[in-house]
Amino acid sequence: MRRKLVIGNLKMNGSITANQKLFAGVMAGVADLRNADYALCVPYPYLCQAQSLMQGSNVAWGAQNLCANEDAALTGAVSPAMLVDYGCTYVIVGHSERRIQLHETDDTAATRFNAAIKAGLTPVFCMGESKEERESDWTEYVVGRQLDSIIRRYGAELLTKAVLAYEPLWAVGTDIPATPEQAQEVHHFIRKRVARCNAEVAENVRILYGGSVQTENAPALFAMPDIDGALVGRCSLEAKAFVGICQAANQV
Ligand code: 13P
Repeated sequence: MRRKLVIGNLKMNGSITANQKLFAGVMAGVADLRNADYALCVPYPYLCQAQSLMQGSNVAWGAQNLCANEDAALTGAVSPAMLVDYGCTYVIVGHSERRIQLHETDDTAATRFNAAIKAGLTPVFCMGESKEERESDWTEYVVGRQLDSIIRRYGAELLTKAVLAYEPLWAVGTDIPATPEQAQEVHHFIRKRVARCNAEVAENVRILYGGSVQTENAPALFAMPDIDGALVGRCSLEAKAFVGICQAANQV
């Protein structure tokens, strides 16, 4: 039985003052919700704050990217070991905003995925198709290619140490979430594709849905058999909205 997992992706938002309020609100709101797991992935500068305020609570924290290299002459990069230093559990890898705006590729995402696992972090590996790709019936081709980029290189077994996320680009930041049925269809496809390599891994890997998840639509999404939680953008910036989604996960 897979436990639900709700991860907030704060993206490039927050401040020391705003985070204090957000972290406190989330910790208080989920303190008694014992049936699911919760985390916030914060911008690098706030990892120290996340660690000092949230350690000992049932809210884990993580980063939104990492560099695959260890100590290197690489200005501006952050290594896996640095994230471990700050107590991160999760790190988001291959988010569509990085793939599109920062030219991250299947190759670089796969390398980061492997580096995260080697360091003991849990990568949250993002996949998803654009609106045009969906309209051309390419969803399975695109998501399959992204998934294969890690399975081909590193094998399906590494997925026991990872979380997968389906984030259709047309639903991210748009207020047009995938319907539960649309998301379930792709989640099922992803699980089947992992099962081709290893049925046990497929049964246990958590696949999160991301893209305009709100308190209102979370229960119907979480009721789907292959949707194991959510990767939440905007609604993770306000404790009440995020806790509402966590409550929905806790109730399933
Ligand atoms: P929104 O929830 O704001 O649509 O963002 C989703 C997302 O990109 C999470 O990683």
